[in-house]
Amino acid sequence: MKTRVICLGITTLDRVWPVEELPTGGGKYRASDYLEVGGGMAANAAVAAARLGADCAYWGRAGDDTAGVTMQREMTAYGVDIRNFRLFPGARSSISAVLVSQDGERTIVNYRGTGIPDDPSWLPLDQVAEAAAIHADIRWVEGAAAIFSAARKAAIPTVLDGETADTEAFAVVLPWTDHAIFSEPGLRSFAGPDCLQHEASRRDALAKVRELGCRVAAVTCGSKGTLWLDEQGFHHLPAFAVKVVDTTGAGDVFHGAYALALGEGQKVAQAMRFASAVAALKCTRQGGRAGIPTRAEVEEFLATH
Ligand SMILES: Nc1ncnc2c1ncn2[C@@H]1O[C@H](COP(=O)(O)OP(=O)(O)OP(=O)(O)O)[C@@H](O)[C@H]1O
Ligand SMILES: [Mg+2]
Repeated sequence: MKTRVICLGITTLDRVWPVEELPTGGGKYRASDYLEVGGGMAANAAVAAARLGADCAYWGRAGDDTAGVTMQREMTAYGVDIRNFRLFPGARSSISAVLVSQDGERTIVNYRGTGIPDDPSWLPLDQVAEAAAIHADIRWVEGAAAIFSAARKAAIPTVLDGETADTEAFAVVLPWTDHAIFSEPGLRSFAGPDCLQHEASRRDALAKVRELGCRVAAVTCGSKGTLWLDEQGFHHLPAFAVKVVDTTGAGDVFHGAYALALGEGQKVAQAMRFASAVAALKCTRQGGRAGIPTRAEVEEFLATH
């Protein structure tokens, strides 16, 4: 039977125009292609978990517009359950226009969306008990607090993607979080600008996270690997050495893989290693979603590294 994972949080849509050179002023330009690619931490994590074999649901919000429909369609194609990915009438989704030149340089214009309600009271929290692990990002604080508190009552492990946010957001969500996995900028936004200076200051920052009740406090450091603090002390897992092509979404995919591994009953160190392998393999390929490996590819990689 598949492991049920729920991922809650942000979803975005990139509308990508590959062009020969980036425009330097007004005028008319021709794109060689046109792509619509979904992104966002929780949405990417959901796609990763589904691709790795989870029975995965994405719970989130967007506008009832063409971008919302496109995001739903793409996630469905990846096998994600979108029954609680709600499109709100009159609201508008977050989208970006991305111009990419042949040498890989980008011009991005982001629209953050509007009119999407923060109230999480429509979430079917009675379904949380059917999941084996819950993941949320820090972009929908009310939703994350609601699903994590329901998970705590049901003794289901929760994983937070601690990206950059204001301290109030962390103050609301961290007390309900079991496994808080920050990015480096995210940890800085929680613990202050100096926390990444030394090994000791990173450790102090993670200790501060654990004081709020998190069982595991971690920070992913890109090619430098992952550092975490748990009841047994500090651990460092180096990143797998791979030929890097594109690191887009590495952190998001790490979180989706970690949540699935926990849901399957893997121990923390084993789940970290699994998630690192998934993220490293993703880095060897183009695309935040298109580059996510299959379960068989990950198992083979782990057996040989
Ligand atoms: N160059 C790399 N080589 C191997 N593994 C990598 C590399 N970059 C990232 N990873 C893996 O992915 C994990 C997450 O990456 P990172 O810390 O960059 O996430 P992030 O800062 O949240 O970025 P984003 O969310 O934008 O992908 C790392 O802990 C590591 O295991
Ligand atoms: Mg990240």
